[in-house]
Amino acid sequence: MPTLADLTSRGLVYGGDYNPEQWERATWREDVAAMQAARVTMVTVGVFSWALLEPERDRFEPGWMDEVLDLLHEGGIAVDLATPTASPPPWLATEDPQTLPVDASGRRLHHGSRTHYCPTSPTYRERARAITSRIAERWADHPAVVMWHVNNELGTTCWCPRCAASFRAWLQRRYGTLERLAASWGTAVWSQRYSSWEQIAPPLHAPYLLHPAHTLDYRRFVSDALLELYRAERDEIRAVDTSRPVTTNFMGFFPGVDYRSWAGDIDVISDDSYPDPADPQAPVAAALTHDLMRSLAGGPWLLMEQATSAVSWRGHNVPKTTARMRQDALRAVAHGSDGVLSFQWRASPTGPERFHSAMVPHAGTETRLHRAVQQLGRDLASLAEVAGTEVQADVAIVFDWSSWWAAEEPATPTDRLRVLPQLRAWYRPLWEAGIGVDVVAPTSDLQRYRLVLAPQLYLLDDDGAANLRGYLDAGGCLALGPFSAVADGHARVRTGGFPVPFADLLGAEGEEWWPLPDGTVGLVGGDHAPAPVGHGQASVWAERLRMTTAMCDLRFAGGDLDGEPALVHSRDGRLHYLATIPDAGLLRRWLLQLVDRRGIGPTHPLARVPSDLEVAQRGPFTFLLNHSDAALEVPLRSVCVDVLTGSTHHPHVTVPRSGTLVLRKAPS
Ligand code: GLA
Ligand code: ZN
Repeated sequence: MPTLADLTSRGLVYGGDYNPEQWERATWREDVAAMQAARVTMVTVGVFSWALLEPERDRFEPGWMDEVLDLLHEGGIAVDLATPTASPPPWLATEDPQTLPVDASGRRLHHGSRTHYCPTSPTYRERARAITSRIAERWADHPAVVMWHVNNELGTTCWCPRCAASFRAWLQRRYGTLERLAASWGTAVWSQRYSSWEQIAPPLHAPYLLHPAHTLDYRRFVSDALLELYRAERDEIRAVDTSRPVTTNFMGFFPGVDYRSWAGDIDVISDDSYPDPADPQAPVAAALTHDLMRSLAGGPWLLMEQATSAVSWRGHNVPKTTARMRQDALRAVAHGSDGVLSFQWRASPTGPERFHSAMVPHAGTETRLHRAVQQLGRDLASLAEVAGTEVQADVAIVFDWSSWWAAEEPATPTDRLRVLPQLRAWYRPLWEAGIGVDVVAPTSDLQRYRLVLAPQLYLLDDDGAANLRGYLDAGGCLALGPFSAVADGHARVRTGGFPVPFADLLGAEGEEWWPLPDGTVGLVGGDHAPAPVGHGQASVWAERLRMTTAMCDLRFAGGDLDGEPALVHSRDGRLHYLATIPDAGLLRRWLLQLVDRRGIGPTHPLARVPSDLEVAQRGPFTFLLNHSDAALEVPLRSVCVDVLTGSTHHPHVTVPRSGTLVLRKAPS
């Protein structure tokens, strides 16, 4: 099977999206020369080229692309060749307006932007297959092409009548009969019982709240429909080329698609990452997202897009300093990316993205930004040996798209207990300590993890619950966050003492969810006072728990639940349940104590991690990212070599202000 390793035999991949159709031919030659100077190894070509490749139905104009690919090949630059299906040409929308998507109010959208396709439109699909097949046939043997890139950020949701019909077919396959659908969804409420399949529509705007089982299934259906689209194009490519990997670029924790259900179909997991330089939370969020991608890939993945500086789609677009650009790029490598690709090579003077940064800015190559791009190219070339190395993780964090979707439906006890913020809050202490973390499904094989964390797992189906129980039976350790395992796979609330699938093992049963008034409530010692994890504050959320055999680590002090348990664990100490949102310090102490008790140590050689230093270990390589404006002195347990300079360090290494170092243990 083709894999990412096919592209990285000579090291990490470096480059970006290249849109030569926006430029004169003379510029193409300059581009290739500048790419060579910047040590670019691969560019993604053709993402938005449909209207040029096929200016009219069935009139294929491949000549200009031949030239581009030849030039790149002569220059030694490999190509990730894209299918252009993310932006159909105007003629397609004009010819068949039903290729255009419809919004949740039932209004058909117009062309003039991009992603204006209905994923189930037979015409769109047929034309997407046709252009893909022309492209594959024409260039499958071109020596520049090393990978295929299907569509771009597949993710359009459509609510049209054609999608409605496909949704009904999807439901029929899933439930068989209307009776089973009624029983699973629970359509007895609000007189929603359907007497014929034809009555079921996508969850279009309605006067009041929609049925959460209906919306959940629609999200699942949309994800499947988009996957079908991917497969349709992939199959066209595979019909002519079985040797090169096929990818499509993901969008991190993107709510529109369940990427985990896609991962098995994709040869190279690739992702687009745009951390906001103005957001202090961006580094931790980016690291978590990179860990998700590495986990989906089961090994190295590829950073398909990032920005060298500012984006143009936020309201206020803060640029990246040279140091910041380097950190964002090397963080991705540290978390398993086998390359760094940017959107895009040369900044566009026209179109909606005219103010988006690029590897070559409007001001040209003799610029601060382009010199930074060249320097990154040299650094990545020196890090060739990082390619293919693995990240060791003894801790897993559970994340599931269905659960995320169901948890964020309206009309729950609170809209302040959000899935991604909870995930990041639990991930942060591990990230700060430089401990490797995988992001897994409730049904993943968990046996290799010493500790499994489920910060917010609202929906947990029976298979997931059985798998987590099996992990506990086999000696694992599981920590469950608040409002977890509440709903089953159909988004139906499980009845009984919660967390229902675990209450017996835990030795405690929840009775009531208790969102807290604004402000905080104390958290103090439970069975042991003072609490081994110290005291702290709870906010936003509490639950009323009744203990049977569990041990209590923390209880509420003050408020409506004064004296009631807030953090409990089973007698064997392997199942923990946190029924609130504690302050960050308490959460950190508790999680690091669990890590410690499970015998999980850092794999990096640092004797201590100073605050403001981000550290990540990948194979034998230690990445150190200084977030502060001062140089940091970092104590080392063993003698290390700076991979980029060759200098040796012990008993400490100094990381310059805002600097990034890559170390490797010195051979003894
Ligand atoms: C996305 C797209 C690119 C470009 C960038 C801009 O990731 O895939 O085509 O629009 O955003 O940040
Ligand atoms: Zn549609």
